Amino acid sequence: MIPQDYISSFSFDQRLAPYDIQGSIAHVAMLASQKIIPVSDSKKIIAGLEAIQRDLEKGKTIPKAEDIHFAIENELVKRIGEVGKKMHTARSRNDQVALDLKLYVRDIAKKIIEQIKQTQNGILNCAIKNQKTVMPGFTHLQHGQPIFFAHHILAYAWMLERDKSRFLDLLKRLDECPLGACAMAGTTFSIDRNETAKLLGFSRVTENSIDTVSDRDFILDFNFSSALLMVHLSRLAEEFIIWSSQEFNYITLADPFTSGSSIMPQKRNPDALELLRGKASRSIGNITELLTLIKGQPLSYNRDLQEDKPPLFDTADTTLSSLLLASQIFETLTVNSKKMEESCHKGFLLSTEVADYLAKKGMPFRKAHAIVSKIVKSMLAENKDFKDLSLSELKSFSQLFEKDLFQILSPQKAAQFKNSYGGTGVNALTTQISKLKSLLK
Ligand code: ARG
Repeated sequence: MIPQDYISSFSFDQRLAPYDIQGSIAHVAMLASQKIIPVSDSKKIIAGLEAIQRDLEKGKTIPKAEDIHFAIENELVKRIGEVGKKMHTARSRNDQVALDLKLYVRDIAKKIIEQIKQTQNGILNCAIKNQKTVMPGFTHLQHGQPIFFAHHILAYAWMLERDKSRFLDLLKRLDECPLGACAMAGTTFSIDRNETAKLLGFSRVTENSIDTVSDRDFILDFNFSSALLMVHLSRLAEEFIIWSSQEFNYITLADPFTSGSSIMPQKRNPDALELLRGKASRSIGNITELLTLIKGQPLSYNRDLQEDKPPLFDTADTTLSSLLLASQIFETLTVNSKKMEESCHKGFLLSTEVADYLAKKGMPFRKAHAIVSKIVKSMLAENKDFKDLSLSELKSFSQLFEKDLFQILSPQKAAQFKNSYGGTGVNALTTQISKLKSLLK
């Protein structure tokens, strides 16, 4: 005999209880309106289920069983007697569990969408608060061009916008009620699947009973969308860890998001962000686990599917708590604008500006690029920056240089005028911020 502990999912599927009860109430109501069971029986069953739900909400527990479906049915029969056994007419745990999971994913995906909006708002507020701060923009983690800090962090708001659209999208695909597929073949009872679908807020029913009880695509959709979202947050965590290091010192994390070291008294470690980065690995592990779980299963339901729950629940919890953490980090962050601006004077950040200057005066860009490379080499050799060069020194590289070059040679200006759509420039940034604002309304 298989040990009960081995076969049982009760320890982890308890959180499906409210969805299981909601599904059973709809199912029983339909059985009565289709005259499959008497209305008087359905009333007793529904009242019994509602009482169980109320008790669970009060924190009461029900005795454990093989899974949450059996546990609730046992409890119902214990409370209302034999009539409770009619609840499972024209239903199987296979369509029942598919329904519970869909209801759960639908609920949690909506919560995640709301939390994404909150995190986006946190980013947006931080961007607005620090709209004038200039910092080096990076490629290859090397200084590239001056940008506004706000522009950099808003990149994450747009990643989250795509994440949000993935959750909205999966909600559309998930919007088919599985109830009525029964074990895998449908039933001879004259059930009305559209009625249960309507009662449970689905806009349609699934088309193929075999697919219905085998399908966990909605969980994979959810876990993939969550894993990608976590990857986005992990990139953010990584940047903020680097930026909060002594070498960068671009930002200071609020105290509650750091921890000290047990031996080095001076330390404020970015533990919260490290955990965020670490938890992204869990989410990636969970989607991998689910893909692997499904890939070898013949149709239709197999008990392997019971194992879909731990990675689903774990990912749901991780995503929600990580989003919340990210929004709190943005709300409490100190931006060290001075340090960011100072860094703009390292790494010849204005080189592209100088090359563009020559190109705007008619020099082919490739040639301008080569000339500025030469200037950078000579500045490196003489330990100078653009601002240390005289006009005559510059003219020795190209006669096109004039005094007006010095007007554009500041990080602030270099960033300010990059107003091509979606660029870092002041006007482009204002457009970007108002677009995001209206999306988040
Ligand atoms: N606890 C099971 C699960 O999570 C419920 C479905 C059981 N179905 C079956 N045919 N044994 O998948």
